[in-house]
Amino acid sequence: MSKTIIISNRLPLQISLEDSNLEVTPSVGGLATGLKSFHKDGDSIWIGWSGLTEEEIPENLLDDVKEKARKEDCVAVNLSEEEIDGFYYGFSNRTIWPLFHYFMEYTEADKDHWETYKSVNRKYADEVLKHYEDGDHIWVHDYQLLLVPNMIREKQPEAIIGFFNHIPFPSYEVFRTLPWRDEVLEGVLGADLIGFHTYDYERHFLSSVSRILRHQVNFNEITLPERIVKVDSFPMGIDYNKFEAAAQNHFKNTEEQRTELQRRLDHHSNETPEAKLILSIDRLDYTKGIANRIRAFEYFLDNHPEFIEKVRLVMLAVPSRSNVPQYQRLKREIDELVGRINGKFSTVSWTPIWYFYRSMPFENLIDLYTSCDIALLTPIRDGMNLVAKEFVATRINQTGVLILSEMAGAAHEMNEALIINPNNFEQISQTLIQAIEMPIEEQQQRNKTLQKRLKRYSVEKWANDFMKALHNTSQDRDAFKATRISSKVSGEILEKFKNAKNRILFLDYDGTLVNFTDKPEKAKPDQELIDLVHKLNQSENTDVVLISGRDKDTLGSWWQEIPVELISEHGVWMRQKDSEWELSENVNNDWMSAVRPVIETFVDRTPGTFIEDKNYSLAWHYRKADPELGEIRANELSNVLKELISNRGLSVLEGNKVLEIKSSGVNKGKASNKKLVGKDYDFIFAIGDDWTDEYMFEELPEESFTVKVGMKKTSARYYIEDTSKVRDILKDFAENS
Ligand code: ADP
Ligand code: G6P
Repeated sequence: MSKTIIISNRLPLQISLEDSNLEVTPSVGGLATGLKSFHKDGDSIWIGWSGLTEEEIPENLLDDVKEKARKEDCVAVNLSEEEIDGFYYGFSNRTIWPLFHYFMEYTEADKDHWETYKSVNRKYADEVLKHYEDGDHIWVHDYQLLLVPNMIREKQPEAIIGFFNHIPFPSYEVFRTLPWRDEVLEGVLGADLIGFHTYDYERHFLSSVSRILRHQVNFNEITLPERIVKVDSFPMGIDYNKFEAAAQNHFKNTEEQRTELQRRLDHHSNETPEAKLILSIDRLDYTKGIANRIRAFEYFLDNHPEFIEKVRLVMLAVPSRSNVPQYQRLKREIDELVGRINGKFSTVSWTPIWYFYRSMPFENLIDLYTSCDIALLTPIRDGMNLVAKEFVATRINQTGVLILSEMAGAAHEMNEALIINPNNFEQISQTLIQAIEMPIEEQQQRNKTLQKRLKRYSVEKWANDFMKALHNTSQDRDAFKATRISSKVSGEILEKFKNAKNRILFLDYDGTLVNFTDKPEKAKPDQELIDLVHKLNQSENTDVVLISGRDKDTLGSWWQEIPVELISEHGVWMRQKDSEWELSENVNNDWMSAVRPVIETFVDRTPGTFIEDKNYSLAWHYRKADPELGEIRANELSNVLKELISNRGLSVLEGNKVLEIKSSGVNKGKASNKKLVGKDYDFIFAIGDDWTDEYMFEELPEESFTVKVGMKKTSARYYIEDTSKVRDILKDFAENS
């Protein structure tokens, strides 16, 4: 039976050494806590780091570490201290983490860290490959493993791979500053499905892919030469029932069963029943806005001294990534701030901030969630923020107020919370007052709606939705009719070619025999191509027809020396072997003067676009335009033109980053079929890459070998990845004719 392979930097369990014994504790952080229940309930293995470096694990405990992981269906990846330094503390947390959270000033670009990141990603991918069996679903997680999807794909091209990014994806303007941006995007694009918490992260990613790699993006699909990649947003939920049940049990605790922390909290509310507890829980991370929160609290007390002794901020900061200098500096800053503010406002019986810098067991988290009146979560940037959701889930009597930064992914789904800008102290201060004074009914009304949503979109639903979407991508793959020209398939076609008595090859030019260039005139045939076409053209019983949308003068001049048959402008002109151009259709160009000015207005408004004049058609190229603007304008122009040319016997062809206006009666299907008249071909081969070639694929006889270049929607029977593969198959023909 197929299984799911989950892979993330950290395992959900962390192993540490206590007096030469192995201790197992749960990992903190949204990824591990969120996914744990999905892993527990399903048929899956989880591959990740155990928390101990190779150097730290004594030889005699190596097997124990493996065993501890195995018991939880986990596989520990061994990493050395040097690898952890370069990969985890280095590239992951000094480059990607700050950059993706818009902390550009903290972002380092260290080549050695990058090299280690690559080699450690390879290590993770290799571990997956060791456990992979046909039919398994692979689910790669987060920014530490951006290269893993493609590393797996290279070895297992048919694997079903999903990737989920748990942190924000920054805007293109920020992402483009990364020196290794191409490699990072290519790494992620190894997946079939890429998930983000919010639509904003999704569109930032799509925009980077289309601008940096120039891949075609249609809504949420990216077309690669050999595959289609889907991108979607799946806001991560929590294990709602677990938090709700924990809160229910918490209230059943007897006096003796209460934790030490709970007793302190109870003492506080008994002593000062009117005073409100304001809670914050985060990893100690600069993205969480902890320093800002304390300053905002100071601003609040400065401006509203009536709340002195009436509120207390309970802050839990969980130690995190303490080898990274920014985190060490942050730790010092928070210590100082807490000290200063407590010094400034404390009274004999009251300190404004209770600060805990440690990791706490789950039951203490529940103590805090259930005992505080207000949660104040103020990240500067946060992919999601599960703490916000956990706080709401534990409020079983539906009281309590959540104040949440609009910069957290969770804010998109939690409209009933009080949403604030973490940099606006005045707003935070006013919102604190609103929260303190909020009537119980209003609190309950807000929480009721929030809880309903959180319960429905739980982590289980999140994981199932993702896996379902991933599974669908594999079905879409199967539904794609065209067969890939693998070496086996190309061998079969070659056999048919060899045995045929009369062959004809229709070869599209741009995007098929040569790659696209920024300017059409740059795509001149290279010597290898000229020799190849020449050789094919000299083969016995083989007619070679270059069939293109190009104008006859350009095509004619490029192929002047080679007496190959040419069809230009989609069929307007034909040049037979060793003869002159003939106008093959009854076409005219008197419409051009009316249409040209309209296209010119689009050229003026869309930088990077231009008009190509052909004898009987006009083409508007937008390959060099900003990809998003280009698509929008192409749609607009297509609509305008269709209206303008209706009843004029003209049509608009939508090619690969080009719109072309020409006579309706002319297309490559008609032109290629004309060549078949009067001759008995027993091998017909047609190859092309864009919509204009679809006419050939549709109109040529059914038994023809029709081939699309690139994995796009097509009527062709086969597809081939790229132009270099096209040349390979043509070379095979040339050598075997
Ligand atoms: P991040 O993923 O950036 O750390 P989130 O708010 O999304 O932030 O997730 C934090 C997760 O870590 C929550 O599920 C929370 O319950 C958990 N957590 C926080 N503090 C502790 C702690 N002391 N012990 C165990 N889990 C914790
Ligand atoms: C965030 C990241 C996770 C990471 C967690 C804890 O949630 O998205 O990938 O595991 O923080 O950080 P750490 O560096 O301790 O694993």
